[in-house]
Amino acid sequence: MHTIIMRNRQMLNLLPILAVASLIIRICGSSSVLPVLTGPDMAYLGSRVVFQCIAPASSPAVTYEFMRSGGVLVATDIDLQGGQFASFSMKVAAASDGTYHCKATAGGQTGVSNSIKLSVVTPASNTRVTSDPFPPAAYEGSRIVLSCDVQMGSHLSYTWFFNRKEVTSSTSVPFHFTGNKLVMESVTPQHAGHYSCNAWSTVNSIKRVSSSTEVQVTVKVYISKPQILFSFFKEGNSYYGNVTCWSSRGTPPANFSLSLDGHEVGYVTKTDSLVAWFHIAMVPGVDMGVAQCLVKSEIQEMISEPVTLEVVPAGGDVKVEVEYLYTADSKLAAAKLNCQVSRGTFLYISWLFNDSALPSVDSLGQPITSHNALTNRGQTLVLSRLSPEESGYYRCRARDSFEDSGPWVESAAQLVQVTDRSLHSLTQATPATETSPKVCLSTIEGITIAFCCFLFLMLAVGSACWYKISDKSVRAHITPTNSEALPLSEIPVGGQAR
Ligand SMILES: *[C@@H]1O[C@H](CO)[C@@H](O)[C@H](O)[C@H]1NC(C)=O
Ligand SMILES: *[C@@H]1O[C@H](CO)[C@@H](O)[C@H](O)[C@H]1NC(C)=O
Repeated sequence: MHTIIMRNRQMLNLLPILAVASLIIRICGSSSVLPVLTGPDMAYLGSRVVFQCIAPASSPAVTYEFMRSGGVLVATDIDLQGGQFASFSMKVAAASDGTYHCKATAGGQTGVSNSIKLSVVTPASNTRVTSDPFPPAAYEGSRIVLSCDVQMGSHLSYTWFFNRKEVTSSTSVPFHFTGNKLVMESVTPQHAGHYSCNAWSTVNSIKRVSSSTEVQVTVKVYISKPQILFSFFKEGNSYYGNVTCWSSRGTPPANFSLSLDGHEVGYVTKTDSLVAWFHIAMVPGVDMGVAQCLVKSEIQEMISEPVTLEVVPAGGDVKVEVEYLYTADSKLAAAKLNCQVSRGTFLYISWLFNDSALPSVDSLGQPITSHNALTNRGQTLVLSRLSPEESGYYRCRARDSFEDSGPWVESAAQLVQVTDRSLHSLTQATPATETSPKVCLSTIEGITIAFCCFLFLMLAVGSACWYKISDKSVRAHITPTNSEALPLSEIPVGGQAR
C-alpha cells in the first residue's frame, strides 16, 4: 500500500511538468504522442502493484497498452475523455519480474514510454542454520562454517546471533561473514555457544524477516598429557595402591587405562571428567612395577610419565635441620625446622618439643598453635613468632601414614635458643644450634667487600703515584667502576631472610 501511495504522490508532482510539456508540444504544433510510465521497481511476491501511464496532450480517445519485455501485452485501457492516466494494477507473481513500458495511441499516432524494471522480491522462508562440519563440533584450531539457508527468498541480507546477541564487527570473538556464511577460521573455546540467523529483505522500507532456530556449536579441546599419582591405603590386612590418572585439559569422553610393566591392568571410559583411578593390590616394601597411564580419545593417544609402584616403609636416619630467617634490618624473624627422613614413601611426621608431642595436625598442614605452623605435610615446622618460650629441644619422628600403630623412627633433639637480644640484633645473638648457611654467605660477602676496598685503595694509591711520576699535564683517572663501589657502611650485612 505504501508503495502505491508514494507512486501516486510522485505522479502528482509530475503533473505540472507534464502540463508544461503538453503546452510546449501544443505551441510547437506537434501532435506526437509521448506517454510516461510510473511504477515501482521492486515488489514483494504476492503483493499488488499499480503502474500508471499518461500521455498528456493527446486528444481523445487514447488507447493505452501496458507491455512487458519480450513484447508481452499485459493489459490495455482506453481514455475516452483525454488528459487522464491509465492505471494498471497487478498481483506480483514470479513471472512478473521484467521490464515494463506502455504504448499510447491517439489520432493515428503511437508513442512508447520510458521503461521500468520490476524486480520481484521473494521473502525468505524456512530459514535454518547448516554447518560444515555437521554436526557443528570441532577441535580447537579447526574451521567451522555456518550457513544461513532459506528454502525460498531473494534479495536477502543476513544477520547472525551468537548467544542471542547480534554478531557485529565489534564482537570480541573473531568471526567473518561472506554472503550467508559465518566463518570461524580457527575456533577457540570462546566460539562455543548457540547460533541463529535472520534472513531478511526490505522493499520500500517494509522489512520481511525469517528467523532460524538455534544450533549449538561445540569446541572440543585437545586432551593434555595424562598425569599419574598414587596413594596407598590399607583395608583389613591388605594394602592397595590408589593410582590416579588425570588430564588437566581436554574435552571428554576419553578412555583411561593403567599399565603395569607394559601390561594393561585397568580400563575405564570417562564421559563427564578426565580423572580416573585404579586400585592395585600392593605389598609395602615390594617393587610392584612401573605404572603408566594411557589416555585415548577419538583422535589422540597419550601416555604419562612412568611411576614406580613401590612403597618404601619409613626408616633410616631422621634429623632436624634448623634455618634462621632474618628481617631486612637483621632481626631474627623466624626459625624453620625441617625434618629429614632418609626413607619412606608415605610418611606421617610429628614434632616433639622438650619431649612432649606438639599438637598434631591434619594432612592439610593447618597451624598447630596460634604462632607455629606446619607446612609441607608436617615436614617443616615454622616458628613464626619467636619468643624465649620457644627455646628448647625439638625433635621429629616419622611413621608410615597407612599404619596407624606402626613404629616410629625418631630424630635426635635439636636445641633452638631464642633470647630477647637475638630478637633485636643479629650481632648479639648467635643461634646456638646451627651454623646456618647464611653465616657462611656473610663471611664470603665480608671477604668480597674487604677485597674490593683493598683493590680500590691500591688503585687510588697507584693512581696517585703514577700522577706524581708522570708528566704534570696527564690527569689521573679513577675508573668509573671503582668510583662507583659502595662505601662500606652501605653494603648490606649478610644474614637477611631469603
Ligand atoms: C583414590 O583417589 C581418588 C582421588 O584421586 C579419590 O577420590 C578416591 O576416593 C581414592 N580412593 C580410595 C579408596 O582412597
Ligand atoms: C624446654 O627445655 C629447655 C632446656 O631444658 C628449657 O630451658 C625450657 O624452659 C623448656 N621450655 C619449656 C616451655 O618447657
